[in-house]
Amino acid sequence: MMGNEAGLKIEEMLCQLADATRIDGEIWRAAYTPEDRIAKNILREWIEEQGLEYREDAIGNVYGRLPGTEPGTVLTGSHLDTVKNGGKYDGALGVVTGVAALGYLKQSGYVPKHSLEVVGLMEEEGSRFASGCQGSRAICGTLKEEDLEEVGRDGVTLREALLSAGYQPEALKSAKRDDIQSIVELHIEQGPVLESEQKQIGIVDSIVGIFNYELTIQGSQNHAGTTSMSLRHDPVVAAAKFITESTRQMMEQAPSATLTYGMLQVFPGMQNVIADHVDLRIDMRDGSEEALLQDEVILKRALESIERKGFKTRLSKNHCLASAQMDPNVIQVIERHCKEKQLAYKHMNSGAGHDSMVFGKHFPTAMIFVPSIGGISHNPAEATAAADIQTGFELLCDVLKELSE
Ligand code: GLV
Ligand code: MN
Ligand code: MN
Repeated sequence: MMGNEAGLKIEEMLCQLADATRIDGEIWRAAYTPEDRIAKNILREWIEEQGLEYREDAIGNVYGRLPGTEPGTVLTGSHLDTVKNGGKYDGALGVVTGVAALGYLKQSGYVPKHSLEVVGLMEEEGSRFASGCQGSRAICGTLKEEDLEEVGRDGVTLREALLSAGYQPEALKSAKRDDIQSIVELHIEQGPVLESEQKQIGIVDSIVGIFNYELTIQGSQNHAGTTSMSLRHDPVVAAAKFITESTRQMMEQAPSATLTYGMLQVFPGMQNVIADHVDLRIDMRDGSEEALLQDEVILKRALESIERKGFKTRLSKNHCLASAQMDPNVIQVIERHCKEKQLAYKHMNSGAGHDSMVFGKHFPTAMIFVPSIGGISHNPAEATAAADIQTGFELLCDVLKELSE
């Protein structure tokens, strides 16, 4: 492979996918939406152009397959969905690079012993159905009947959304795979480390655990002009204190943790009304379940400080994703090819969540990271240089070839 031809082509495909799925100028591909359907139609064309077999499973994961001569499957790919106002690369890069890699291998005459498949997974981000990773959970058999009753941010259940998009929630079990021998997910780093250390590739050793919470802080609704500052019981001020205090304590006492308040809603939400209550969503991450449980103590302590001021609070943990170790054997294969190709690489842990943390509990799984320009992600400015995409593509081809032989 010469130059950056594949990297440039993949970049062009990512732009095409993004431009076809914008809502009011912003990229947002949530599961079972018209944008999701458009993306799948485009993907289907690309998969079939490469001579791969296209299929969608009962809950909307899409596959492209290069059949092998013997049983067993090596899977690559990533998620097809995005966050609201997301970028072109998060998830999609792994899907498109997977299609390109399988197409390249097929065109070069390679016939794998074990089938090679690329997958575009459903709803990793949880931007519609907050628990996230529904696609990979279905493949692992851990998405259960009762999970289909999850209510999305538009008030529609997952089961209803599946039905209206033409899928078969009743056939959920058929999405489970028992033939997968190994999984390699290629993804952007989404942080600044590779770029700042001038590395071309990150080999992921582990992925953080994530606890998500919903918090309500209750105050007393009243008039903005007639209630003196000393008499009011303003939950917005309490929320500000709690956010500042919990952030400070977490940074001091749990430096490995991350704590994010990415969603705040003030009710009733009027400029001239002291609010009745504030709802917050909390994303807390750390390296292990034990660490997260300790972080939770810090969070609750910060909450007690506003409860002592007379605010009622309700904290509930709504989702947990366990941290995951990647498979040492798959890591070894990736590392050997990095060495053979004399790539600048480093082992690292992922602070972002991935379908690989779900897969990693069921199948030998590893991840390849490529650098993110400026470390920016979950942002329309997300980007990776074509030369780095090319490096990731070539490495992925070699790794998939070895794993499927
Ligand atoms: C997914 O991108 C996550 O880390 O939340
Ligand atoms: Mn993401
Ligand atoms: Mn992602």
